[in-house]
Amino acid sequence: MIRVQENTSLKPYNTFGIDVKTKYFCEIRSDDELQELIATDLFKNEKKLILGGGSNVLFTRNFDGLLILNSIQGIEIVEETEEKITLKASSGERWHSLVMNCVKHNWGGIENLSLIPGTVGAAPMQNIGAYGVEVSEVITKVEAIELTTGEIKMFTREECKFGYRESIFKNTAKEKYFISSVTLTLCKKNYHINISYGAISDILKQMNVSQPTIQSVSEAVIKIRTEKLPDTTTLGNAGSFFKNPEIGEKLFEKIKSEYPVIPHYTAANQQVKVPAGWLIEQCGWKGKKFDRIGVHATQALVLVNYGDANGEEIFQLAMKIIQSVREKFSITLTPEVNIF
Ligand code: EPU
Repeated sequence: MIRVQENTSLKPYNTFGIDVKTKYFCEIRSDDELQELIATDLFKNEKKLILGGGSNVLFTRNFDGLLILNSIQGIEIVEETEEKITLKASSGERWHSLVMNCVKHNWGGIENLSLIPGTVGAAPMQNIGAYGVEVSEVITKVEAIELTTGEIKMFTREECKFGYRESIFKNTAKEKYFISSVTLTLCKKNYHINISYGAISDILKQMNVSQPTIQSVSEAVIKIRTEKLPDTTTLGNAGSFFKNPEIGEKLFEKIKSEYPVIPHYTAANQQVKVPAGWLIEQCGWKGKKFDRIGVHATQALVLVNYGDANGEEIFQLAMKIIQSVREKFSITLTPEVNIF
């Protein structure tokens, strides 16, 4: 049975801890409840916004519509062979709980994505990635419900049009679907342990691990994330605020001649990817605190709400950062978080 609340604060539902209100609020715990909601006049008439863990959003104003909180739980095995296992995870499951479940069973593929905040449903939306792995590598299917008709639609991996922190759900399918489940195929045997990301091998050395396992890689990732990234449960933030920009070789060479140590990675189409955190740090923002907001001290890519800041203040800080990076490096950063 669904219950629609009015004039509800979203503070508990976004990791930035921004206190905005939504005109209508409804928590959905099953596919049936979603269908029940879809059949209401309220659903037909109001503007809609779906929220999972609220860990990748910045609210700058009240929401004048129906906010749907996705709490659909459940993980089931849909196929299993000696080598592989295919799981269907409901979209309201916590992403990290799914990872921990897989690590415990020794199913390989998502251990590098340990401790990423948010829900399973948000994972394909922005193709979450960390430490050399992107979720698009293991997703085989995404089941979504079309918001206007209530019909179920299956997206194959190709149809999801995954890119770096991108998918069809952030582009042409934006706000058209409610992702209800994600199907992933993981390895039970011959899994590929990915320790290509320098920081993981350093931590594993410190942990005296010479033969990395799914469990030790997960532990290493948890250690790095805990040290570098602020805990969303104690300090308001939404992880990386900006995407790492890709720039042309010419501009890269120009910057490199002045900053020979600039970290960088080769990207497609002769582009070079540079860490936005490094660029922001060079502009002097790292660790800066302005009253109740700031730039995190150990990772300049993370903007922080130290108290009761509003979203507009954080948005203005983001704009100033974009401007200063543009002035110094001729690079325009784009936000990774969804701004409402
Ligand atoms: N760096 C700095 N100063 C900083 C931050 C980073 O100089 O303040 C340098 C680091 O020294 C390193 C490089 O930038 O040489 C990369 O830094 P880091 O390993 O921390 O990763 P990142 O590129 O800043 C990305 C993701 C993170 C993900 C990590 C690890 C994006 C936008 N962010 O950050 O994802 O955890 O790689 O794979 O791609 C997120 O999306 O919310 C997120 C946290």
